[in-house]
Amino acid sequence: MKNIAILCSGGDVSGMNPALKHFVEYSLKKGLQPYFIYDGYEGLIDNNITKAGYEDVAGIINRGGTKIGSARSKRFTLAQYRKIAKTNLDNLNIDMLIVLGGDGSFRGLDVFYKEHGIKFCGIPSTIDNDISGTTYCLGVDTALNIIKVSIDAIRDTAASFKRAFVIETMGRDCGYLALISSLTSGAELCLIPEIEYDLQSYEEEFKKQIKNGRRYFLAVVSEGIQQDSHDIADWFENKIGIESRVSILGHIQRGGNPTIYDRLMAYKFITHAINGLLNGTDESVVCYTKSGFELKSIDEVANVKHVLDKELLSYL
Ligand code: F6P
Repeated sequence: MKNIAILCSGGDVSGMNPALKHFVEYSLKKGLQPYFIYDGYEGLIDNNITKAGYEDVAGIINRGGTKIGSARSKRFTLAQYRKIAKTNLDNLNIDMLIVLGGDGSFRGLDVFYKEHGIKFCGIPSTIDNDISGTTYCLGVDTALNIIKVSIDAIRDTAASFKRAFVIETMGRDCGYLALISSLTSGAELCLIPEIEYDLQSYEEEFKKQIKNGRRYFLAVVSEGIQQDSHDIADWFENKIGIESRVSILGHIQRGGNPTIYDRLMAYKFITHAINGLLNGTDESVVCYTKSGFELKSIDEVANVKHVLDKELLSYL
């Protein structure tokens, strides 16, 4: 029996648990022995690796986060620790690895492969949706749905009180979450790092709207913009003349019950990853593109700067 292991690295996403469930079930179906590596590359270094069976994944499909933990590992960037990681895998006869993570995690994996020949397949998993080569990263749909529910709730109180709300989403340097949330929530203002803006250019129009009876404004801003969200709120107060509040959504965007879409995508990503490794693709990332699933090289994915889809940007 061949052995295969999985780990989660970087920010957790809702969809990792369904992926773990299918990883175990599909590995066993394919005659492989599945292993879990706990707490990302940290667990790989610390030999926190155990065999996984059906009982380990019972009752987790509906849970956010990841049962096996995740981490951002500084030690894995150092050759001496990667050597320990390789010894740990050798001792268990594991030479295939699936990593749920972002592009930084994949770059580390690529170095590991080049040094020690451990075959791998990456599965893009980050709510930021900022990985080149794939239009979708696991967890994004759940995060967007959490944001949607939050904005809908904020709208209720904003309208009741005649207020402007500045709602800050996560995304690091990528404005995807803010852009999609703004479009699908009908926000009056959307600010993202990819687009330069000038608040002054909105002043006349917003003031006119208040005169014509507008009761509230929703501004969805990405955490990666240059200005602090409180400065945008001050601008609403001082220049537009409407009381304002800031709501930083924070880590609630990373949790919650995985949506149907993320559960299904988890299954598909895992199936393509395991099939890829069994068919002899030794170092790749499963990408979802307009033409379906593809295995792409690490260079196409982790070493190319991500850019937001032009069509989406044109809707702003
Ligand atoms: O990359 C995912 C992400 O949630 C970003 O959107 C955010 O900037 C960051 O992680 C937060 O990291 P931490 O959980 O370490 O605070």
